Amino acid sequence: MSKKWFGIALSAALIGTAMCAIPAAAEEADVADKKVGICIYQFADNFMTLFRGELENYLVDQGFTAENITIQDGKNDINEQSNQIDAFIADGVDALIINLVDPSNAPTVTDKVVAAGIPLVYINREPEESEEQRWADNGWNVTYVGCDARQSGTYQGEIIADLGIDAIDFNGNGKVDYVMVMGDPANSDAQYRTEFSIKAVEEAGLEVNALRDTQIGNWQQEEGNRIVTNDLAQFADDLEVVFCNNDAMALGALEAIKAAGRTVGEDIYLVGVDALDEAIDDVIDGSMTGTVFNNHIAQADGAADAAIAFLAGEAQDVQQYCDYVKVTKENAEDIKALLQ
Ligand code: GAL
Repeated sequence: MSKKWFGIALSAALIGTAMCAIPAAAEEADVADKKVGICIYQFADNFMTLFRGELENYLVDQGFTAENITIQDGKNDINEQSNQIDAFIADGVDALIINLVDPSNAPTVTDKVVAAGIPLVYINREPEESEEQRWADNGWNVTYVGCDARQSGTYQGEIIADLGIDAIDFNGNGKVDYVMVMGDPANSDAQYRTEFSIKAVEEAGLEVNALRDTQIGNWQQEEGNRIVTNDLAQFADDLEVVFCNNDAMALGALEAIKAAGRTVGEDIYLVGVDALDEAIDDVIDGSMTGTVFNNHIAQADGAADAAIAFLAGEAQDVQQYCDYVKVTKENAEDIKALLQ
């Protein structure tokens, strides 16, 4: 299966990591009269709001007219999204960019979009590898543009492991006592971050102790707050590290931590993913231990480039990944500057 890594014109020195080369600009395609349909799994999601804004602006920069770009809110409802896709097909859009409500629905969606002869770019929620293999085997104009969520989990775990067991082990039991707040469990980002964050801590040689089973916060700040409020009441000083699959939930957890009179960096640690503005500020002032930059700019631009390339008749690799970036106090100011 063909896979490509890409990045955008971020200064590698600035963000302290090696980014991949900028993808060759898609072949000039005249897109002024092309219609693109975009399905977002739900507008009420902080990260996907950033992603969506960048996608729209970049498409306009590439020559699409604003009237020819239609973005639909799937409202986290499979049926709603399915109707939106049907309507885009009936309307004869030239390309579709889809953030699935449920990635397991990819085969059905792919089949109908391919049958209509419309090139398709999946974003954010990656379909199964077997599904991607099917696109490759059939030579269809279908690709996934996003990040490899395993990497974000690993970076979260490394941020914690790098603190060292002596700094983490407030209760002196020799273990990293943690709780996990998970995003939408049907989403591979949530599954991989949950698994790989803990794996990275263990691989660094630290012993871990889950204080309870993983709880589901569905990417939402209020849920992160509710779950961690309960955790703090139940586990009190034994709770040493809070892992959240994204920043929205981590921001909710931070409110709970403050309300319980605890202090990140002094008697507890907290990590998220996304690098939302507010989370970066929290990393800068020490109230979050770290986060992981989920590069919405590279992903949105990469998705648009893939759609444009399909319109120009260029085949695409079925998996197109960009790098996450670890964000700690050391580079948080730089990431903030980059995003302004
Ligand atoms: C993740 C992101 C989450 C949420 C989710 C939606 O990549 O970290 O905050 O937006 O996508 O699928």
